[in-house]
Amino acid sequence: MRLWTLFSLAALAAACADHGPGHDAAPKDRDTFTGRLYPSAVAEYTYIPFDVPGGTTSIRVSYAYTNATSSKVDIGVFDERGYEIEDARNATTGFRGWSFNLLRNFTFTPAETTPMYVGGPVASGTWHVLVVNTQIAGSYVDYNVTVEYGYEAIAGPRFSAQYAASDLGLDAGRRARLDSGDGLVWLRGDFHVHTTYSDGSYTPAQQVEHAVQQGLDFYISTEHNSRSGNDVMGAFAPDELGLLVGRGMEVTTRFGHWQAVGLEAGQTVEWRYGPDGGNGTDTGYADAAAQVHRAGGFVSVNHPYMPCKECIWNLDAEFKYNDAIEIWNDGVEQEINEAAIALWQSLLVKGRRITGLAGSDSHHPPSMVGRPCTRVKASSLSTAAVVEGVKRRRVYIAEQSDMEIDFTVTVNGTGTLAQTGDAVETNGKSATARLATSGFDGHMACFITEKGYLLNKTVSDSEPLSLGVAAGTEFLRVELRNSTGTYTGLTNPIFFE
Ligand SMILES: *[C@@H]1O[C@H](CO)[C@@H](O)[C@H](O)[C@H]1NC(C)=O
Ligand SMILES: *[C@@H]1O[C@H](CO)[C@@H](O)[C@H](O)[C@H]1NC(C)=O
Ligand SMILES: *[C@@H]1O[C@H](CO)[C@@H](O)[C@H](O)[C@H]1NC(C)=O
Ligand SMILES: *[C@@H]1O[C@H](CO)[C@@H](O)[C@H](O)[C@H]1NC(C)=O
Ligand SMILES: *[C@@H]1O[C@H](CO)[C@@H](O)[C@H](O)[C@H]1NC(C)=O
Ligand SMILES: *[C@@H]1O[C@H](CO)[C@@H](O)[C@H](O)[C@H]1NC(C)=O
Ligand SMILES: *[C@@H]1O[C@H](CO)[C@@H](O)[C@H](O)[C@H]1NC(C)=O
Ligand SMILES: *[C@@H]1O[C@H](CO)[C@@H](O)[C@H](O)[C@H]1NC(C)=O
Repeated sequence: MRLWTLFSLAALAAACADHGPGHDAAPKDRDTFTGRLYPSAVAEYTYIPFDVPGGTTSIRVSYAYTNATSSKVDIGVFDERGYEIEDARNATTGFRGWSFNLLRNFTFTPAETTPMYVGGPVASGTWHVLVVNTQIAGSYVDYNVTVEYGYEAIAGPRFSAQYAASDLGLDAGRRARLDSGDGLVWLRGDFHVHTTYSDGSYTPAQQVEHAVQQGLDFYISTEHNSRSGNDVMGAFAPDELGLLVGRGMEVTTRFGHWQAVGLEAGQTVEWRYGPDGGNGTDTGYADAAAQVHRAGGFVSVNHPYMPCKECIWNLDAEFKYNDAIEIWNDGVEQEINEAAIALWQSLLVKGRRITGLAGSDSHHPPSMVGRPCTRVKASSLSTAAVVEGVKRRRVYIAEQSDMEIDFTVTVNGTGTLAQTGDAVETNGKSATARLATSGFDGHMACFITEKGYLLNKTVSDSEPLSLGVAAGTEFLRVELRNSTGTYTGLTNPIFFE
């Protein structure tokens, strides 16, 4: 069923009845729409059209609903360019943002727009409010939406996007960190960060400040279903700061969340679809993932087992379209991440070589951007180089940004050296693994192959470990765990061919 095409008749009737005065009267100052939502229609999409008259310079939307302590009605806005999904590979251009149930009112003017909503012109034509009843306690919820139109002259410059740079090159400090062997540098980053531009309470300025304090080289801005944070990030992360803030979006569907990373300037990703069902009835996720790949980005499944109704990953059971998976999310309990790590292991065993990533999922204190820290080996401090590093699985995770893991394998006889993420030809030979660490003294190193846990050894930062790898092994990866058994570091595998 294509849920988004269902239209509430109640809302349509309200829209027709409540329209403002005719063309010969003073311009209308508001429209009010009312409707009733039933539990049987939870998650149905109700689009309410409203006509923005010529000369309008501001639109203020406010809404309310009954039983608001136990029910949830979410809201978003599409402008005159349209709301229908023609093709999820090209996100709907009219999308102006989605505030879940976090805001009861918000405003668009050509100069300023409430964060979470996309800035830009206020053009006349038919716009739509989208309401979705995500949770109805009791027998029904009555809602009302009021749209107020303003015609006063707007002072100040018109909104124009200020994108953060997507390529900062390598400064002297980072060049000094280059690996002399391959000319690449292990960047410190975070792939999952929120602010007040969606449901976080940290401002972008605070997240940027914290990222610098944590010694990060980059993070990816990943607001829920909005690009509005990406559109202003240049104001918070100027080039001279030397922090790369990449454009991403946490695509928040009703069937799980995924990370779109490495978006173009102004790019939005479609989120209104459900699971495919295996017969191609709903290809929204596959199409949206293709859009991200077309832009040169990558797709990662977020917190596949986060225990909330719509967070559990349920869009693509075979993990066909993603490049990566978030196996360590700081917002969930340890056993939930352990389940994600086990899922990743099962995919690796099946031959799905997807990259394991981490995300702080930082929204509010005390969560901290860069904890955990994802290290990506890259040729430059640019979004493109970070994306390439992730696609090549040159990635490891550490609890904190100052902890380091150097994991390599040398093929016996040929001397071929492989590092985290590589696929190496062994021609039937055995190999020798080496693990050197910094910040992991006394932790346990667990070596894992396609057969599971192979060997556990206590780590000393001053003395690298080495381990013989039998011929015929398919892959080897390392988990570091502290004395209570909690993961403190994870590498991507080295694969043997
Ligand atoms: C909208 O609904 C709220 C909550 O039910 C109610 O308090 C308010 O009076 C309504 N406003 C309008 C304009 O109908
Ligand atoms: C959507 O994207 C596809 C794939 O790139 C392209 O062929 C098609 O023309 C686009 N459609 C629209 C409506 O932009
Ligand atoms: C508008 O929303 C804000 C918070 O989102 C709230 O504090 C404020 O009371 C609202 N104003 C009105 C008039 O509803
Ligand atoms: C409001 O929610 C409560 C449960 O929290 C429910 O018992 C009650 O029937 C609801 N009211 C309506 C009008 O549905
Ligand atoms: C597609 O699969 C879904 C779920 O299995 C099923 O409900 C639906 O009837 C199928 N549609 C077609 C056209 O086969
Ligand atoms: C190594 O440690 C892991 C994680 O604590 C444990 O599950 C596993 O049984 C241990 N394996 C061996 C071979 O000691
Ligand atoms: C390969 O090297 C490792 C470590 O030096 C060693 O344990 C193993 O026996 C070697 N295998 C062969 C076949 O030489
Ligand atoms: C192991 O790490 C967990 C999570 O950071 C922490 O709660 C626990 O105290 C640590 N154990 C030790 C012995 O450091």
